[in-house]
Amino acid sequence: MIEAKGLSVSYGRHIALEDVSLNVARGDITVVLGANGAGKSTLVAALAGVVPLRAGTIHLDGSDITFAPAHRRVALRLATVPQGRGLFPDMSVADNLALGSFVTDQDDFASRREAVFSLFPRLAERRNQAAETMSGGEQQMLAIGRALMASPAYLLLDEPSLGLSPMLVAELFRAVRAIADRGVGVLLVEQNALQSLKIAERAYLVENGHIVDQGPAAGLRYDPGVIDTYLGGRKLLPPARGGK
Ligand SMILES: Nc1ncnc2c1ncn2[C@@H]1O[C@H](COP(=O)(O)OP(=O)(O)OP(=O)(O)O)[C@@H](O)[C@H]1O
Ligand SMILES: [Mg+2]
Repeated sequence: MIEAKGLSVSYGRHIALEDVSLNVARGDITVVLGANGAGKSTLVAALAGVVPLRAGTIHLDGSDITFAPAHRRVALRLATVPQGRGLFPDMSVADNLALGSFVTDQDDFASRREAVFSLFPRLAERRNQAAETMSGGEQQMLAIGRALMASPAYLLLDEPSLGLSPMLVAELFRAVRAIADRGVGVLLVEQNALQSLKIAERAYLVENGHIVDQGPAAGLRYDPGVIDTYLGGRKLLPPARGGK
């Protein structure tokens, strides 16, 4: 489990995150929903170790990683796909993937790469193509594939659906579900509440750097705050049903 407690982050005098606590369990998809500027990427950056904390602690499977540098967190099997993907555009698909495994043991490199290719067959077909020549959806698959090359136990995904068509989002989210079903704990930061809540176990709502609501993902799909902000208002609320 990733256990974050009381995280606070400031950029100068601007408080971007205040007293945020959240857990990510192995095998689960945990969604963080929030509008533009809510603090989602700051939360991802705090967990990845690329912004300093003003307060709070982070434990990874019981070990305190609050002060661990970013590269050490990757070695401890916490991988991140940043917003905007962070690919090397003029490098090939294969080389981008290879860069994902630089902190890990190289022994099973080939089998890890095969696992990525079986999850995203299009990456195998395009392995010699430059990353920048691929579609947005394919680039997002490559960014996730690169993170998987580090054999993560936990994967942080910052708005992977941004700019993709609903059909591509569905395809991408099926892959994210498959990753979690293999035992990876996924933190999925999103504004696409409709599709992300369908595949997730738990969800948190972030507003102005604070967590304002949390619970099982199925329940949050019927939360008035979620419906008003993300699902087009209460008039579009589907009829209440039991279960999911
Ligand atoms: N490097 C920075 N310096 C100063 N302020 C920043 C910096 N990065 C983010 N902020 C501010 O912190 C707040 C949270 O930003 P953050 O990027 O975490 O939001 P977000 O929820 O990821 O938004 P988006 O959905 O647009 O990606 C915003 O008000 C933003 O302007
Ligand atoms: Mg962001």
